[in-house]
Amino acid sequence: MQLTDLAAQGEPPARTVSGVDELDRVLGGGLVEASAILVGGDPGIGKSTLLLQAAARFARMGIETIYVSGEEAVEQIQMRAVRLGLQESPVRLAAETNLRDILTTLDKERPKLAIIDSIQTMWADTVDSAPGSVSQVRAASHELINFAKRRGTSVILVGHVTKEGQIAGPRVVEHMVDCVLYFEGERGHQFRILRSVKNRYGPAGEIGVFEMTGRGLIEVKNPSALFLGDRDKPSPGSVVFAGIEGTRPMLSEIQALVAPSPHSQARRTVVGLDSGRLATILAVLEARCAVPFAGLDVYLNVAGGLRVSEPAADLAVAAALLSAREDVALPPETVVFGEISLSGALRGVTQAENRLKEAAKLGFSAAITPEQKKLASVTGMTLKPMADLTTMVSEIFGAE
Ligand code: TYD
Ligand code: MG
Repeated sequence: MQLTDLAAQGEPPARTVSGVDELDRVLGGGLVEASAILVGGDPGIGKSTLLLQAAARFARMGIETIYVSGEEAVEQIQMRAVRLGLQESPVRLAAETNLRDILTTLDKERPKLAIIDSIQTMWADTVDSAPGSVSQVRAASHELINFAKRRGTSVILVGHVTKEGQIAGPRVVEHMVDCVLYFEGERGHQFRILRSVKNRYGPAGEIGVFEMTGRGLIEVKNPSALFLGDRDKPSPGSVVFAGIEGTRPMLSEIQALVAPSPHSQARRTVVGLDSGRLATILAVLEARCAVPFAGLDVYLNVAGGLRVSEPAADLAVAAALLSAREDVALPPETVVFGEISLSGALRGVTQAENRLKEAAKLGFSAAITPEQKKLASVTGMTLKPMADLTTMVSEIFGAE
């Protein structure tokens, strides 16, 4: 065993940017040499499209790239490249599932980037079970990652997120790679989000936003505008939340519908937010603010199909619920953020100033916030700090 001084710092790893900001940011500032990356996502969400486009970009930046598909024939990939306008890219393709074959070729060619689409179709002849099984996925990933570290090739493994039935989802690979990205989107919506859930070379929780078009994925440089895009005039139940996704502020619209329930047990339907969080907020509204929701159906939704997981969304959720229940629209041009504690008190949130700046940039002029120390004033924004949830209930909705 060789020992090294902690203080002996090597060079930072070499990185290459693709020129696609939404991708480079999620990677932590570009592709790190000899790194292993997993890109997971539902079948059909656009992983192959994203990676073919990324391959073309990296190839153009001088990164020698090989794209190995275990799912499509070479002609199919070439046809897609034509559709994406990438037919001139110096990317080399192969349709292959035999891992030994793939590693032999990679070892001979020594590319700087190898994309394996998908890890579930690959099989190692050293393992007895079928492709897609846990032991195959694990063995194939292990060998490819080993190769990456040994030869200085970055590898990107594509993994389908599998529904019940197929066991070997990307989860078995997550701990083996340097970086785990998930590609998400809602059915019926054109936008896609690439999210880093683990990154040894940058912050996790970073997102990149894309739109799927007839000619592939295009970057969305101003996601707040996209997610607020189809919002017309303020209506009861609709509240704009000033959120942070990764290192970037992002506004989204939280919508609630509250109606008398015809069922013996009232319904709670949530899309894009945590249903446990909704239950908690309803409980706090009932117990601390005396606003009952018994006998009322509650539907809660983030517009555009975005998923919001920040606790800072609590106050916006509460405001949407109250607004829907009281049938009172929030004053227009208002954004909301703040975390609600079980006592009904409001907690300050991180990056308040960035949230306010983004809201101001998009034409909002008021913010309902927790009473938060050190909340710098932002030009054009009027702050309405609330001590607790009860204060908001009475001040904004005039109810007790
Ligand atoms: P794909 O990249 O094959 O998904 P995955 O690899 O995650 O399974 O993308 C599949 C969908 O994307 C398919 O339904 C068609 C759509 N698509 C477009 O809308 N525009 C395009 O330019 C391309 C290539 C695909
Ligand atoms: Mg695919």
